Amino acid sequence: MYWYLPLAWTLSFWDGLLTPPGFTVQPLGSDELDDAAELHSAAFAGGWSGDEFASLLAQGGTFGFAVRRDGQAKPIGIVLARLTVDEAEILTIVVDRSARGKGIGRLLMDNVLQYLHAERAASLFLEVEETNAPALALYRRLRFEEVGRRPAYYAGRDGTRTSALILKRTLGAG
Ligand SMILES: CC(C)(COP(=O)(O)OP(=O)(O)OC[C@H]1O[C@@H](n2cnc3c(N)ncnc32)[C@H](O)[C@@H]1OP(=O)(O)O)[C@@H](O)C(=O)NCCC(=O)NCCS
Repeated sequence: MYWYLPLAWTLSFWDGLLTPPGFTVQPLGSDELDDAAELHSAAFAGGWSGDEFASLLAQGGTFGFAVRRDGQAKPIGIVLARLTVDEAEILTIVVDRSARGKGIGRLLMDNVLQYLHAERAASLFLEVEETNAPALALYRRLRFEEVGRRPAYYAGRDGTRTSALILKRTLGAG
């Protein structure tokens, strides 16, 4: 008897279940790209600038989400992704160091998956350094599977090289 519930009601129901108390998730807005850049630069060498975020977000098919603590202006986590025809990719995801391990990364990824489900996308790809244990834990939990590897793709400050793993999550089948 529940099959006829309106989509908006159903999505807001799941939003309520997905979002940990005390946090709000919203589409990444053009006025928070400098904050996104700040988060990105704190996590990655060669972090992207606000202008780089803006030019990515201006490209067709690019979308993102930001999480903030209730009552606070600055986001504590952002994700940026791009959908081309029915294939999507995560361009970046980052959670402020102080907020990691509280389910924010999962919340951002769940919102991407929910968006892609509504868009009827077929698959979601991403690239991750093989030594990035927290990110790999998040993606494996979300049923991503390894479909490729770029050997010695990343260069560490000490000259060591690590591989990039290409992960895929098939969508549509649940
Ligand atoms: C990767 C990242 C986004 C994860 O965000 P997060 O908010 O800390 O992740 P969550 O709290 O949602 O955790 C999701 C899952 O990963 C696991 N996890 C998180 N941090 C972990 C760690 N340090 N070690 C092992 N598992 C970890 C959690 O236990 C959880 O699994 P569970 O659902 O089975 O409990 C965050 O660590 C980050 O911003 N890292 C720097 C940027 C980065 O590396 N981005 C990814 C590039 S591919």
